[in-house]
Amino acid sequence: MPSNAKIVISQFGEAELLEILDADIPSPQSGEVLIKVSYAGINPIDVKTRAGLGWAAQHNKNNLPWTPGYDVSGVVVKQGEGSKKFNLNDMVAGFIGFPLRGGGYSQYVCVPENELALVPEDISLKPAAAIPLAGQTAAQALEKAQIQSGETVLILAGAGGVGHIAVQIAVAAKTKVFASCSESNLSYVESLGATALDYSKPDYLQQLGSVDVLIDLVGGQTAIDAMACLHPGSRLVTVPTITASQVCEEASKRGIIGMGMLVEPDVTQMEELLGLISSGMIKVQIEQVVSYQNVVDAHKKVETGRARGKILLDMQG
Ligand SMILES: NC(=O)c1ccc[n+]([C@@H]2O[C@H](COP(=O)([O-])OP(=O)(O)OC[C@H]3O[C@@H](n4cnc5c(N)ncnc54)[C@H](OP(=O)(O)O)[C@@H]3O)[C@@H](O)[C@H]2O)c1
Repeated sequence: MPSNAKIVISQFGEAELLEILDADIPSPQSGEVLIKVSYAGINPIDVKTRAGLGWAAQHNKNNLPWTPGYDVSGVVVKQGEGSKKFNLNDMVAGFIGFPLRGGGYSQYVCVPENELALVPEDISLKPAAAIPLAGQTAAQALEKAQIQSGETVLILAGAGGVGHIAVQIAVAAKTKVFASCSESNLSYVESLGATALDYSKPDYLQQLGSVDVLIDLVGGQTAIDAMACLHPGSRLVTVPTITASQVCEEASKRGIIGMGMLVEPDVTQMEELLGLISSGMIKVQIEQVVSYQNVVDAHKKVETGRARGKILLDMQG
């Protein structure tokens, strides 16, 4: 039987504690399919959980070793009883097992078929693995903020996994988009259709005037400082959960409508995002594809908080 390499967290801590195990290939249960995983996307929540931070770590602390990974793309290789949404050899992708099951950092994983979307033939499996969690977070944050055509939207961290998708959706919705990033990402963020703002400059928000919507992907004091360009009645969606209550409290003092959020997997939205990639409306930025054997380096890179777009694990071979 071919082996199934999977990456596990056996104890919380540094990236070096990630282990690669050789497991059996699992059998799909009723309503599931077995996927041979091509790529697994890495998200900041994976890195925080590995470090023992946040509620996914809290809830899994008695469930170690645990395999992280919510974003996968691959090929259906076996169907469980009653599973009929996909055919064998279909290319699929999804935002799977969120928040507690995870499991995407595996060469083979069983997934309920209703968590998966068919990947159109004109899309490679790389963007399909990069888009699930980040793309749905971007779409849901903008929905929550109820952006309207003609409004001014400021996105903090426009070059990141969530940010680069949020910028493109907000531009397509005909809002005027400003997005913060470091100097090295200015031209990249401009290429997405936003006005890029270099956050290393102390007065980087001064040119903005008044903003209708703030999508905060940084959190904490950075979000609080950016409230200087909001007005009473502006909407703010703060995405990092750890500082959400602090940011919303400060927003409320200023008459700003502050909202936290937790992304919810939504297959219909995933299919729509794949359609937007297929039509060329969204371009998925992949900074690096790293062999799963180098998962430690990949986690360290995501941990810097400086990746442009997404980092993927290549789970093949
Ligand atoms: N609540 C939820 O459901 C949910 C869902 C998804 C993500 N999140 C959270 O949302 C945050 C963003 O996620 P992500 O996947 O987009 O992260 P990410 O891909 O790791 O973000 C990296 C980007 O952040 C930028 N950045 C770092 N510091 C910045 C600053 N002070 N100002 C502006 N940009 C800055 C970097 O750009 P430069 O290199 O140009 O600095 C880099 O491009 C994370 O905290 C994540 O945990 C929450």
